[in-house]
Amino acid sequence: MESTEKILEVNHLKKYFKSGKGTLKAVDDVSFFIRKGETLGIVGESGCGKTTCGRTCIGIYDRTAGEVFYKGKDVHKLKGREKKAFTKEVQIIFQDPYSSLDPKMKVGDIIAEGLRAHQLCSSKEEERQRVHQLLETVGLNSEHATRYVHEFSGGQRQRIGIARALAVEPDFIVCDEPISALDVSIQAQIVNLLIRLQKEKGLTYLFIAHDLSMVKHISNRVAVMYLGTIAEITDAKALYQKPLHPYTQALLSAIPIPDPKVEEEKQRIKLNGELPSPIDPPAGCRFRNRCRYATERCAKERPELREIEPNHFVACHLYDQ
Ligand SMILES: Nc1ncnc2c1ncn2[C@@H]1O[C@H](COP(=O)(O)OP(=O)(O)OP(=O)(O)O)[C@@H](O)[C@H]1O
Ligand SMILES: [Mg+2]
Repeated sequence: MESTEKILEVNHLKKYFKSGKGTLKAVDDVSFFIRKGETLGIVGESGCGKTTCGRTCIGIYDRTAGEVFYKGKDVHKLKGREKKAFTKEVQIIFQDPYSSLDPKMKVGDIIAEGLRAHQLCSSKEEERQRVHQLLETVGLNSEHATRYVHEFSGGQRQRIGIARALAVEPDFIVCDEPISALDVSIQAQIVNLLIRLQKEKGLTYLFIAHDLSMVKHISNRVAVMYLGTIAEITDAKALYQKPLHPYTQALLSAIPIPDPKVEEEKQRIKLNGELPSPIDPPAGCRFRNRCRYATERCAKERPELREIEPNHFVACHLYDQ
């Protein structure tokens, strides 16, 4: 169940990569929180910094600036026993179930890795049973433990990836586009599995996706990223019914509506121009060169993420009084 307790708090997080051409600002001052038991969706175009944000939040990447607190503790300052406990409580499911699972390992060994690292089973037999149970939890069966990943379909591989993440009984999982590489017909199955597991185990998710239609069903709240920044963040329902940021409005208008009549009459908002490079991004508002409402102020001043309505945060000068 969703609670008011914040499991993750991100304050002014920055992650820059040095490259030959300059500093690449992959994540540039983002702040948000995730409540225990909820799913926060993060959406945005390819390269806007979703993966970097997710990975920096769980300490896979060091940060350039800012802080991330997990259950009140600074993720980038964890050491020793606390760090070990954190690596058990926090897991990640990767986008590509083909490259993220070792082809030379048996499925059972892939799933048991975390069990071994954290010494969660007292005997080989207990470990075997636990692996079998995990396979069944994700809709596979115990005989699959002795097989290799190449014998499985994309959807099945992602189930293995989910079983591996679940093995250590985590509290928080970063799901980094877990369905993007899968056939559309399989995507809903994996999303439904993740939703069921969340309910059963009280998990908290950071769910990364390319487009808004994918995160709609799974997210309690959604953050829209654009070029290393958060443009808007609010309850999933509010975002779909009343998008405030011009970028969110454009993204939503691009989702096809199943009703052909409504689809025909719908106004599609076309984005002007190109997505700028995260090296030397535009000063002021990052979105301004593609925004139909941009003014001089947008070139000068970077809009801060502000709460315009209860629970509805947007970074746009349009909403200044
Ligand atoms: N390890 C790295 N070293 C240098 N640059 C990186 C690194 N990882 C990501 N980047 C750059 O940072 C920016 C954000 O990348 P990131 O992978 O976080 O985007 P994304 O939103 O997850 O994209 P996608 O939807 O394609 O997965 C991109 O310009 C990318 O090229
Ligand atoms: Mg990514």
